[in-house]
Amino acid sequence: MNIAIIGYGKMGHIIEEIALEKGLKVVSKIDPVAEGATHKEISSESLKGVDVCIEFTAPDIAVENVKKIAALGKNIVVGTTAWYERIEEVKDAVEDNKIGFIYSPNFSVGVNIFFRLIKDISGMMNTFKDYGVNMSEAHHIHKKDAPSGTAKKIADVIKNGLDRVDDVDIKSIREGEIPGTHTVNFESYADVITLEHRAKNRKGFAIGAVMAAEWINGKKGFYSIEDMMDEIIK
Ligand SMILES: NC(=O)c1ccc[n+]([C@@H]2O[C@H](COP(=O)([O-])OP(=O)(O)OC[C@H]3O[C@@H](n4cnc5c(N)ncnc54)[C@H](OP(=O)(O)O)[C@@H]3O)[C@@H](O)[C@H]2O)c1
Repeated sequence: MNIAIIGYGKMGHIIEEIALEKGLKVVSKIDPVAEGATHKEISSESLKGVDVCIEFTAPDIAVENVKKIAALGKNIVVGTTAWYERIEEVKDAVEDNKIGFIYSPNFSVGVNIFFRLIKDISGMMNTFKDYGVNMSEAHHIHKKDAPSGTAKKIADVIKNGLDRVDDVDIKSIREGEIPGTHTVNFESYADVITLEHRAKNRKGFAIGAVMAAEWINGKKGFYSIEDMMDEIIK
């Protein structure tokens, strides 16, 4: 399977490493400035022979990139976060061009298991009304968005599962080189139940993104990581 990496930054480099370990071919690395990129722009020439593009760039450019890739008929994995208010535009581009598309604010398999745990405990807490909920997320100082896409997703899972909660406060911490920690506390007057996911490094994201590239290869339609996890876990 041939992949193109769109955005040859921190994630782009790790994705290349993981893809090569898995025996995939990285035929194109597209980035306007990064050293080592093979092309500066998305074009029919830079995507020649590509089966799936993996996009990790920045919130303000991801949607335009998706539209360009979709117009060239290539399947896409999008890891860039914070573009979701434009999700309808992206769905249209995917449908109009009949491509396959999968996205997630967090491609880590561990985080997606964590989402399941949060969903289960939130449902359980409908019975135990003494518990309130609060959460925090901590990331490296270079992260451009706050709160993280993953934290917003966790808040949605809680809101969907726990009837008495309309909104969840998220405390964002930006410090050093933290790869990503998400902490959820269910707290009563008597005790605190803490669920925490701590990424040790960025490899987990890349492993999941490459797994998603293999999963979306040859498919058509708009998917999120839940669709892939449902198929894998069932
Ligand atoms: N879903 C997940 O699992 C997950 C995990 C980690 C990170 N992320 C997200 O992924 C995104 C990238 O993260 P990162 O840490 O790799 O950031 P990064 O190191 O800043 O890498 C982004 C790269 O994309 C380049 N770029 C800018 N415009 C481009 C364009 N038009 N076409 C192609 N490349 C372009 C950037 O160049 P410049 O430096 O010149 O701008 C940079 O080299 C962020 O939104 C982050 O939140 C998601």
